[in-house]
Order: sequence, then C-alpha cells, then structure tokens
Amino acid sequence: MILKERIDRNKVPGHVAVIMDGNGRWANLMGKPRVFGHQSGVQSVREVVEAAGEIGVEYLTLYAFSTENWKRPAFEVNALMTLLVQTIRQEVNELVKKQVQLRSIGDISKLPSKSRKALKEGIAATAHNTGLKVVLALNYSAKWDMVQAAANLAREAASGKIDPESIDEHSFRSHLSTAQMPDVELMIRTSGEQRISNFLLWELAYAELFFSPKFWPEFRKQDFFEAILDFQGRERRFGKTGQQLKSMKIG
Ligand code: FPP
Repeated sequence: MILKERIDRNKVPGHVAVIMDGNGRWANLMGKPRVFGHQSGVQSVREVVEAAGEIGVEYLTLYAFSTENWKRPAFEVNALMTLLVQTIRQEVNELVKKQVQLRSIGDISKLPSKSRKALKEGIAATAHNTGLKVVLALNYSAKWDMVQAAANLAREAASGKIDPESIDEHSFRSHLSTAQMPDVELMIRTSGEQRISNFLLWELAYAELFFSPKFWPEFRKQDFFEAILDFQGRERRFGKTGQQLKSMKIG
C-alpha cells in the first residue's frame, strides 16, 4: 500500500517542525556552489507543504534562517534573503489556491527591507486562508524568543500590569512568538545531524524527534509521509507509564 494511505488521519500531528539541513553538503557533493543547494531546497519545501496540507497537519514550522546564520559569508546570506523574496512571490498564488496561511516567527525587524516586505505581503495575501499554517522561522532562535518573553514579562511586572508571583508556565508560554500555536508533536531534521540547534526549545519539550539521513534537497513527499508513519508508531507517554496509558485507553 502506498505510504500516504497507511497514515491514520485521526492521529496526524497537529504541529510538525522541520530543520531543513544539508543544502550546502548536498550541493558540494554535486560539485556545485552551496547556494545551488538552497535553491534546490525550495522544491523540498513545496513538497513538504503539499504533503502536510494533504494529510491535515495544522501547523508546519520551517527553520529557514537562524540568528546564527548571519555568521555565514555575506554572499550566502544575501542569496538566502533573495531566495526568500523570490519564493514567496512565486508561490503566493499556489498558497492561496491550496488555502495555506503563511506566518513567521523570529525578529524580522533585522531582515533586509526587501525580504521583510515580501514576507509581509505574503502573510497579508494568505491571512484569510483556512488550511495549513506554514510558519517560517526567520532570524529566529529559541533562546532569543525565551529572552524576549522574559523581558516582556519583566516589563509588565515592573509597570504593575501583572503580579510577578502570578508568572507560571502558562503565562510564559503566552509571551513566546509561538503563543497562538500548539506545542510541536513531531520534529524532523534532515542530513543525518541529530541536534536541536536552538530551535523551539520550549515547544519541543515532548516532541517526537525524527532524523532523516537525506539531505534537505533530496527530501520528498514520501519521506515526509514516512516520518508521519514513524511518529504514529510511537508510544507517547508524557511522563506517564506505558501501563497507565493502556488503562486510560481501556477506561
Ligand atoms: C541548512 O542547510 C539550510 C538553511 C540554513 C536554509 C534553508 C533554506 C531553504 C531550504 C531555502 C528557502 C526556504 C524558504 C522557506 C523560501 P545548510 O546550508 O546548513 O547545509 P550544510 O549543513 O550542508 O552546510
């Protein structure tokens, strides 16, 4: 049976996050410049967005540019920013057709104005779509997000808007840039690397992790479905024992 048909539609993860890794290494193996790898990675983005939409994932967060990525050569940073503009402009009609809503997390005030403009236009053009929400993590890092949440809570406490004693996991979570989104249920990283790399540290607390040996430009719809099936085969205990889970299911 084809992979997609084996997926249990009642157990599709509500939020899938992806670290799209291996563009540079893939390009080098092909004897091409690193930027060719990023350009080729756009096709994988298309496929994963399509696949996630088809099976009813609610949120798909893609790590497109981390705060650490500014340390790359200027040429590569510029190429990534240009690719972002081109891709959004090129894909926006298709996103509307598929009812995909575009969003972003991260400090986009530091992006070049052209990239920020294209992103804002893409977000506005898809704001009323009712299907899959694709969240681009841009100039994002989880530590940055937690620090800005703490700073905002501190400001609210200092101004008397909130009582510091009232700060708890719930109020902290509501100050993260992912406040409106559920926690991640499945995190996929490509290229064989097995790290979190400062991505959604809070939201990944109970996520299942799936590491694919494929480089991002090789990652296809079928690979995404395989990750979903692997997720569905796992027992998620959230700190409980397997026995407790079984009795909950029976009871
Ligand atoms: C990691 O591979 C990839 C990135 C830092 C950029 C991801 C960007 C894209 C897939 C293209 C554009 C995406 C959108 C949403 C428009 P790497 O360069 O770190 O690979 P390496 O580890 O082999 O060097």
